[in-house]
Amino acid sequence: ATTLGASAAERGRFFGTAVAAGKLGDGSYTTILNREFNQVTPENEMKIDATEPQRGQFSYGNADRIVQHARSRGMQVRGHTLAWHSQQPGWMQSLSGSTLRQAMLNHVTQVATHFRGQVTWWDVVNEAFADGSGGGRRDSNLQRTGNDWIEAAFRAADAADPDAQLCYNDYNTDNWTAAKTQGVYRMVQDFKSRGVPIDCVGFQAHFTGGSNYPSNFRTTLSSFAALGVDVHITELDIRNAPADAYRNVTNDCLAVPRCTGITVWGIRDSDSWRSGESPLLFNSGGTKKAAYDAVLAALNSG
Ligand code: G3I
Repeated sequence: ATTLGASAAERGRFFGTAVAAGKLGDGSYTTILNREFNQVTPENEMKIDATEPQRGQFSYGNADRIVQHARSRGMQVRGHTLAWHSQQPGWMQSLSGSTLRQAMLNHVTQVATHFRGQVTWWDVVNEAFADGSGGGRRDSNLQRTGNDWIEAAFRAADAADPDAQLCYNDYNTDNWTAAKTQGVYRMVQDFKSRGVPIDCVGFQAHFTGGSNYPSNFRTTLSSFAALGVDVHITELDIRNAPADAYRNVTNDCLAVPRCTGITVWGIRDSDSWRSGESPLLFNSGGTKKAAYDAVLAALNSG
């Protein structure tokens, strides 16, 4: 096929992008979005500060706009994200203990209920593991409510939207031998063994160079998949967008049957949170880059 989404669909996968509600009025942006992608992730609009700016007062306008744009065009939506140490509104940052735990669970319940039936996957919990060699949890106000906060969030999301696929999402979990990767792996293994509802693991894949992404990434994807979860590449961008690195990442996903899709973290370089690094598949003028051609060719060579 001639587009990323249609080509991925022929391989039984989705190819998506992060979308910003504020850009849906940009014709160049939506032309590429509607042509190329069959999955979207709201870049910021479903985060806690956006959806519950005041405690108990929910705000869904921008998120609903993205969902409506996507679903009316047959694109699947990944919800991002219900529980995270970052992008918390001020009121949540000031809570702790059982009060915070209840507020977090209420947030999960309310937001997952609002989007019930519209979101295929939820990033229920984002970035809960620490960087470095420890392999343990990141210290955060949520972690300080008790080590079972992640499992509690997944159970609340499952109760609110039993049909959504519930994912754990993180970065720097690409290298199979890294302590952080192994820590997340052990958590997923534990959840599966105890029946905690988890369906998928997202690998953000914010890579910083053509050669830095690990040669064992495919091993990481297949190892997690062997636990009985789908795996997704959820926020792909690569410094300077080397075509060979984009091709290799695409082929890593295609090599793992349960790697069911790839999402890039923005459309044009100018849309990127790392716009100074030109990490995406379209340049700021909306022209396809060499990395685009490499990804499309990989999707079509199987
Ligand atoms: O929209 C406001 C604007 O009104 C305000 O004047 C301005 C002043 O700072 O901020 C604007 O909001 C910014 C928002 O992006 C929209 O541009 C926030 O400050 C800024 O923090 C926010 O950055 C986002 C970042 O997550 C933090 O949540 C990036 O767009 C987004 O790409 C990035 O995405 C994260 C994923 O959610 C999780 N994984 C890592 C990834 C990259 O950091």
